[in-house]
Amino acid sequence: MKVPFYTSTREYAARRDEFDAAVRGVMERGDFILGGEVAEFEKEAAAWLGVRYAVGVASGSDALILGSDILGFKDGAEVLTPTFTFFASTSCVARLGGKPVLVDMDEETLNMDLADAARKVTKATKGIIPVHLFQQPTPMQGVMDLARAHGLKVLEDAAEAWGMKSLVDGVWRIAGTVGDIGAYSFFPTKTLGAYGDAGLAVTDDEELYRKLKSYRVHGSSVKYQHDYIGYNSRLDTLQAAILRVKLRTIDEAIAARARHAAHYFDRLGAIQGVRIPGIARGNKGVFYVYNILIDERDALAARLKEKEIGFSIYYPKPLHLQKCFAYLGYKEGDFPIAESVAKRILALPIYPEITDAEVDYVCDEIASFCQS
Ligand SMILES: Cc1ncc(COP(=O)(O)O)c(C=O)c1O
Repeated sequence: MKVPFYTSTREYAARRDEFDAAVRGVMERGDFILGGEVAEFEKEAAAWLGVRYAVGVASGSDALILGSDILGFKDGAEVLTPTFTFFASTSCVARLGGKPVLVDMDEETLNMDLADAARKVTKATKGIIPVHLFQQPTPMQGVMDLARAHGLKVLEDAAEAWGMKSLVDGVWRIAGTVGDIGAYSFFPTKTLGAYGDAGLAVTDDEELYRKLKSYRVHGSSVKYQHDYIGYNSRLDTLQAAILRVKLRTIDEAIAARARHAAHYFDRLGAIQGVRIPGIARGNKGVFYVYNILIDERDALAARLKEKEIGFSIYYPKPLHLQKCFAYLGYKEGDFPIAESVAKRILALPIYPEITDAEVDYVCDEIASFCQS
């Protein structure tokens, strides 16, 4: 049996009429740049997330760059960010001349180790980028306590976090809506994925909202009048139309992911040598990714490949070991947890449309690998 790591085609086949009608509507209206669907999606997304303002941009990476620029994560400012994350969580600061101060991870949650972050605060620290990875947020109570104690700005990398929740000051808040600005990605594999690149920046602050809207159109709020040196980063109208279709059933999609995660846990939870990260107290997860940790990761990966089972390795090399960040002066051994997890982590296929038979097949192969 061939099990794709991810596919959009099953969802499209099941809801072809809705997607086709949404795309046709944009083609018929011809309002491709910041068209009506963008404003509608922004309204619906903000309501779903429980945040005041949402601004559609071209990608999650751009939401992080606009957020970093607006919050002042640049020009020598130090910004705490995990070493174990996708490149864009850190390049957003580095490319603006800010100084990423890397932080190790917590092996239980696979997110930033907040005790390590606290140790690295200096007088030059301007902000923190908690990255909500895989299946749960960085515990946002801890992030906000640290930020309040040191006057830090908080840019949440919520690229993977649609629907994840954290308990903050006694209230369950959706990850990405707690800090000053939250950045979401709608890369196709994401829990809420577009059919191309797309992203969103959210905030509760009116001034930040005005800047985000302006920065996405070259720093201009009145045509050809430029208040800032901004960017060209607009959410594509066709992608907004597709995202509106998907947002209508996002709760069911999240529930289906949870069912598949429970199925994986039932089958793999007791296998000797396989560790499955849990969900921390004070967090409610969404299974964007289903990871396992296993010492013989590379041999298992070879076996899965041979059996035509899709998998992914997020992330094989922490950022402190990346060539482009050599100038930061880190070396091997500086972040022992991240380095160890990078050698053991492996992501299994999970998406709403995966079948029980496929999950069973994946689990059978892992069980047989572990017994051999
Ligand atoms: C943690 C994280 N940050 C940032 C991004 C960047 O998002 P995008 O691919 O939409 O630019 C991604 C996803 O790809 C991500 O997983």
